[in-house]
Amino acid sequence: VRVLVTGASGLLGGRLALLLARDHAVVAARHETPLPAGLDAVTFDLLSPASIAETVVQSQAEAVVHSAAFADADRCEADPALAHRANVVACEALARACRTHGVRLLALSTDLVFGGDAAPARETDDPQPILVYGRTKLDGERAVLDGCPGAAVVRVALVHGRGHGRRGTASESIAWQLAAGRTPRLFVDQFRTPVDAESVADLLQRLLASDAHGVFHAGGPERMSRHDLGLRVAASLGASPGQIVALRQDEAPQAAPRPRDVSLDCTRAHAVGWRPRPVAAGVALDRRGPDA
Ligand SMILES: NC(=O)c1ccc[n+]([C@@H]2O[C@H](COP(=O)([O-])OP(=O)(O)OC[C@H]3O[C@@H](n4cnc5c(N)ncnc54)[C@H](OP(=O)(O)O)[C@@H]3O)[C@@H](O)[C@H]2O)c1
Repeated sequence: VRVLVTGASGLLGGRLALLLARDHAVVAARHETPLPAGLDAVTFDLLSPASIAETVVQSQAEAVVHSAAFADADRCEADPALAHRANVVACEALARACRTHGVRLLALSTDLVFGGDAAPARETDDPQPILVYGRTKLDGERAVLDGCPGAAVVRVALVHGRGHGRRGTASESIAWQLAAGRTPRLFVDQFRTPVDAESVADLLQRLLASDAHGVFHAGGPERMSRHDLGLRVAASLGASPGQIVALRQDEAPQAAPRPRDVSLDCTRAHAVGWRPRPVAAGVALDRRGPDA
């Protein structure tokens, strides 16, 4: 399949573009940050609906994996108008273009569409986001599903394992701090079902190979706090558990306080045969540094 991957320079999006390129003709949508080497590229601006429509046509894609987003929850809280343009208006334009040109649309969303007080959240539940980021991503999901019948939305949990670019995934950033002799301070009261990019790519492959549509949850098989994840990373590196410092959210307030528990139930994703890797296997894929 000829697949346009937007956000192909992102922490998750870059890794997905490379993994999908093993089986598909990937065209990567380029903005400011360098793309993974070896991919065909088209330029693209998420904030310009005209550029989005043009990119869909120019790429001659049969499918789009939409990964580009304004994905920093604290920055979204500070600039809700920009978050709305990037996460909602762009999805409206993309859905319109995909419907017009008969292109299959798979859009990435987040576990943070949920409010965190009714875990595990099912694909059929009605999300009640508490963050600007989650609200705009939920509105973006609706724009995709209403604007492009047959589209699928994949809600991704906290990403661990191997990522792309300068930033590390949740497990990489812990591993890099430990390697630098620092003591990661990690929340004991934020629960997620971390998932690795390889597993997310596998779900996308299954969706590309089918006409399955609607919402799918991409969460890993284990529910854990960030502190639990830190202990797993320390164990995998032979570091002392004492190097991982436990912290409560109220001890380190964030611009956008995160929901307490956004663990995902992935029944619909499992029904297409998807089985995500255990956390230990994902953590083992970590890069030793951003350029590794
Ligand atoms: N990482 C996670 O833990 C996680 C968890 C759950 C869900 N997700 C979702 O997964 C998707 C990918 O996340 P990520 O981690 O790869 O995000 P990221 O590292 O923040 O990357 C965002 C991507 O969007 C692109 N982008 C931003 N503004 C743009 C613009 N105006 N025009 C064109 N492209 C633009 C960026 O390109 P430039 O840098 O060139 O601007 C970058 O490639 C997002 O939809 C996010 O909501 C991520």
